[in-house]
Amino acid sequence: MTERTFTMIKPQSIKNNHFGQIFSIIAGHGFRVVGMKMIHLTPKRAGLFYEIHRDRPFFKKLVKAMTSGPVIVAVLEKENAVLDFRSLIGSTNPLVAEEGTIRKIFGSSIDDNGIHGSDSLQTAEMEINFHFASSELF
Ligand code: RTP
Ligand code: MG
Repeated sequence: MTERTFTMIKPQSIKNNHFGQIFSIIAGHGFRVVGMKMIHLTPKRAGLFYEIHRDRPFFKKLVKAMTSGPVIVAVLEKENAVLDFRSLIGSTNPLVAEEGTIRKIFGSSIDDNGIHGSDSLQTAEMEINFHFASSELF
């Protein structure tokens, strides 16, 4: 079934100029970009986006990293997009991520793993609506 998932190219991947290579890999795996923009998250918006982790010990560090520079948010479409995209980005910790995954190639640590991907169809819908109006999606 054709699905939509949400991704965010994290600040470190913009600073390192890796976003072009990352989107090349994403397109090469059959994902169509149906929405995309560069934004700079405020601490409030980053905290809301990662609300589920608010009580975790790494929350402050996560918000700091996500607001350290601009990010690229994008909506991707493909059959089985949510699960396939999680496979393509790999494990949260790049040090144990599978060979060939985006986090393995471009991430350097669990705090700097380069890219976000929605973890379920329900989360994807929430995250897409958090960042995009329907008029911004094609
Ligand atoms: P993301 O939401 O960014 O796609 O990452 P994920 O699903 O693979 O991992 P999640 O559990 O949602 O964690 C969100 C981000 O928080 C940082 N993190 N640090 N133990 C730790 O120190 C720890 N665990 C998670 C990571 O940067 C992760 O991407
Ligand atoms: Mg997550």
